[in-house]
Amino acid sequence: MTASPAGPDPRAVGDVGHVGDEPEDTTNPGQIPGDAAVEASIRPRSLGEFVGQVRVREQLELVLTGAKLRGTPPDHVLLAGPPGLGKTSLAMIIAAELGAAIRLTSGPALERAGDLAAMLSNLVEGDVLFIDEIHRIARPAEEMLYLAMEDFRVDVMVGKGPGATSIPLEVAPFTLVGATTRSGQLTSPLRDRFGFTAHMEFYSPGELTRVITRSAAILDIDLRPDGADEIARRSRGTPRIANRLLRRVRDYTQVRADGSITHDIARAALAVYDVDELGLDRLDRSVLSALCRSFGGGPVGLTTLAVAVGEEPTTVEEVCEPFLVRVGMLARTRQGRVATPAAWSHLGLAAGGGSAGAAEATLFDGLSSGT
Ligand SMILES: Nc1ncnc2c1ncn2[C@@H]1O[C@H](COP(=O)(O)OP(=O)(O)OP(=O)(O)O)[C@@H](O)[C@H]1O
Ligand SMILES: [Mg+2]
Repeated sequence: MTASPAGPDPRAVGDVGHVGDEPEDTTNPGQIPGDAAVEASIRPRSLGEFVGQVRVREQLELVLTGAKLRGTPPDHVLLAGPPGLGKTSLAMIIAAELGAAIRLTSGPALERAGDLAAMLSNLVEGDVLFIDEIHRIARPAEEMLYLAMEDFRVDVMVGKGPGATSIPLEVAPFTLVGATTRSGQLTSPLRDRFGFTAHMEFYSPGELTRVITRSAAILDIDLRPDGADEIARRSRGTPRIANRLLRRVRDYTQVRADGSITHDIARAALAVYDVDELGLDRLDRSVLSALCRSFGGGPVGLTTLAVAVGEEPTTVEEVCEPFLVRVGMLARTRQGRVATPAAWSHLGLAAGGGSAGAAEATLFDGLSSGT
């Protein structure tokens, strides 16, 4: 029932021999093992239950209500935004609000045009077709999708070589809902065929407090308001992380305390899981620390930085950096990664290094009195 498409999550896939996966997975915005089952139970089911994203919700409400008034399927919808912000939830809500059935697939699953043709030919009028990670759809399937989105028909090629013929096939009018964490990777012909694009934004701590207060009620967790605020503040603006931290803090309080989640309990628990005041985890701090302590604050190349912290460059780039950039601690420049004054102060260091080159900084690192 629940789609659990593996997100573009470099840590969850093929991550061999990395020491201490557990603590860092805590703040991974992608889906990790164990999330899927719980997420299914706490997913918001209607636009009314969907917290935050005020603009997107208002826009979507108009799109859906207009379509219902006209009695036609709404325009195709593209949901764009970072992992864990509620794209899959919203896709299901769209279908629910329309009273339509939803068919789930994903870009990587549509390797051949035939895969898509099979999907399309099974649609019933008014159905919602959800394609997750739509930026990863294979080219032939994408081209078939253009025609299906525009004219509700496809041309299916039968046979090979000179004898090949194309058979036109009608598709029932449907609504495509595409989700992507990388809207920049969509080709423009595909992007242009969506009538409405929802740009999902990170959530405020207040909104995340509402998300986990709702989840706690469903999961029967005794979450106090000050405990909720503390968890929300450290959740990187991401509901999936907030819900996950809530579960980890529940484990802590059930094992070591009385089962309730107060401010003090949340703080103590999150310290155990290595999630700091701002939601940085151990890997984030290692990256900043290497950048400041070993490379004098940069600029330093991604690969060098990744080697310094013993991680894959893609993990550093896709998991750590987006958050560090967003909180203003790291800048990506043409010359390389640079630590901002906020990074130095978060590490409790005096901004230093100046424009010292990497090698020089490493050399002097051990000699200077440091901290
Ligand atoms: N606005 C919201 N209100 C309440 N809960 C939310 C909201 N957005 C997301 N969630 C919760 O966060 C979890 C993750 O959301 P979802 O799976 O929809 O994210 P996603 O954007 O599809 O992520 P990915 O890019 O990894 O596929 C859901 O289980 C849901 O419970
Ligand atoms: Mg999703």
